[in-house]
Amino acid sequence: MRLRKLLNYGIFVLVLVIGFCFTTIARGYDIPPPTGQIAIAQQTSDLMFNTLFAALTQEFDETTADNVEQGKQSISLIFNDQNKDMRLVGTVSPLRQNDRPRDNFEVQANALALAGQAYTSVQQVDNKWYYRRSIPLSNFRAECALCHVNFPVGPTSDWVGALMLRVPIKK
Ligand code: HEC
Repeated sequence: MRLRKLLNYGIFVLVLVIGFCFTTIARGYDIPPPTGQIAIAQQTSDLMFNTLFAALTQEFDETTADNVEQGKQSISLIFNDQNKDMRLVGTVSPLRQNDRPRDNFEVQANALALAGQAYTSVQQVDNKWYYRRSIPLSNFRAECALCHVNFPVGPTSDWVGALMLRVPIKK
């Protein structure tokens, strides 16, 4: 009888320990990364933004009425739809359906971008932590309307969408 009691107690303790382990593991995935690691991801996003902005500026500098289709293809290849780490997003008759906001972050960021506001967030996507960032874009060059025929002939100060980046945060 005593042995049985002891055994029941043992099983009870074991169940508690296993339960505790599982909740700790599950919570481990939810614990936000340390601020130092977030800062590093933010710095990476600064570098990435500068690189992309320079590339886009180069493309706009070279855009003429004669090479619009080639320029559009070039930008589309750079912003390959399979790359979710950098996206051009907009709802002002977007050139590609894939460029519409695709998740809650993009919906919110796009709404803010249309009011000229940037947006950042640290969040999990598919169990991975990311520093996400949206930089609003205005119709600030005459070339915009060559490719985006729905934009007013520029340059104008109209906000038209955003460049959205995400950088994985190392734990
Ligand atoms: C050479 C052509 C070209 C020029 C010039 C150009 N864009 Fe685009 N833009 C594109 C293409 C192509 C896409 C779609 C990229 C893709 O495949 O995801 C795009 C996408 C976008 C998007 C996402 C929504 C959409 O329409 O698909 C925004 C916002 C945007 N561009 C803003 C601008 C602004 C602002 C300018 C001027 C400063 C500009 N673009 C100049 C070709 C151009």
